[in-house]
Amino acid sequence: MLRYLTAGESHGKALIAILEGCPANLVISEADINRDLVRRQSGYGRGGRMKIEKDHAEILSGIRKGKTIGSPISLLIPNKSTELYEKAITQLRPGHADLDGAIKYNQKDVRNILERSSARSTAAQVAVGAIARQLLAEYKINVISKVIEIGGSKQPKDWAKLIDQARAKGDSLGGIFEVLVTGLAAGLGSYVQWDRRLDGNLARAVMAIPAIKGVEIGLGFGTAHLPGSQVHDEIFYVKGKGFYHKTNNAGGLEGGVTNGEPIVIRAAMKPISTLGKPLKSVDLVSKKPALAHVERADICAVEAAAVIGEAAAAIEIANAFLEKLGGDSVEEIKDNFTSYKKRLAVI
Ligand SMILES: Cc1cc2nc3c(=O)[nH]c(=O)nc-3n(C[C@H](O)[C@H](O)[C@H](O)COP(=O)(O)O)c2cc1C
Repeated sequence: MLRYLTAGESHGKALIAILEGCPANLVISEADINRDLVRRQSGYGRGGRMKIEKDHAEILSGIRKGKTIGSPISLLIPNKSTELYEKAITQLRPGHADLDGAIKYNQKDVRNILERSSARSTAAQVAVGAIARQLLAEYKINVISKVIEIGGSKQPKDWAKLIDQARAKGDSLGGIFEVLVTGLAAGLGSYVQWDRRLDGNLARAVMAIPAIKGVEIGLGFGTAHLPGSQVHDEIFYVKGKGFYHKTNNAGGLEGGVTNGEPIVIRAAMKPISTLGKPLKSVDLVSKKPALAHVERADICAVEAAAVIGEAAAAIEIANAFLEKLGGDSVEEIKDNFTSYKKRLAVI
């Protein structure tokens, strides 16, 4: 089983991650981890911070001579932009964790909340996801994503203009992205307990990305408006190919278990909370009306969120894969997978 923790603050010294449970002898490309970190920083509409940071992960342990050795992997991503760390803030931002965090942790300086609630922590998650992705790639499972909608438009040609308009007005935009997982065998996840359902675990992981307010699998919310005859994917069988579906409204999961079709996850991201033209709010200390705090921020980060969605999905799927076919080394898993595939071929 893979498990991981991240630590670090947005403008602190660094972000760190510890990943445990990765099988031994997996070739890890540091360049591939860094490629995902760069992708997380990209996208039209990002704020000035992304021009300062040049994220790269330093591997501190668990990988020797380019391969995992079975021990916990630790990663460090230094922060370049640390100048705001000491700056106190008291004007609460609607839509961020400022108010609830200050109440919960009994803080009078909102900096103590936003430094960790910031999506900067997702850089560490993406680095872990890049390792999960490399584990899955070893068994020909791929995780990709694309942006579907920004600011209400599904037309990519509109997006830059909409983002520019929002920036000019001191506003922000959200959108929708999709994560697609291909190359999956049927049988990952389980329906026997709620917490082993892969649909639930994927939804939780994607919903836990900051600013994600809706997650659907396959046809998702669309299934509610249609009769069953137009929703359920009919089953076919051809010798040599096995069972298959011609449609994929289920998004690759039935009963919380992979059915052999690609997994399709869609997520809705709300607009960024920190606005150039701040909303009405209250000062945490004086309790007097105040405009929300304005700090360097993204205008739109849907493209980056899609990369984080890939990481969140890769980690959950790698976990389900290891639960089904796991071993302590890539060779042991390969043997398990080969015998499972042989069994699937004769069904
Ligand atoms: C990639 C990414 C970048 C983000 N950038 C910002 C930002 O620059 N400013 C901001 O206020 N919120 C930003 N957010 C959103 C906040 O992190 C998020 O709204 C906040 O943590 C509150 O969590 P919630 O929206 O899930 O309730 C970003 C989110 C993501 C996924």
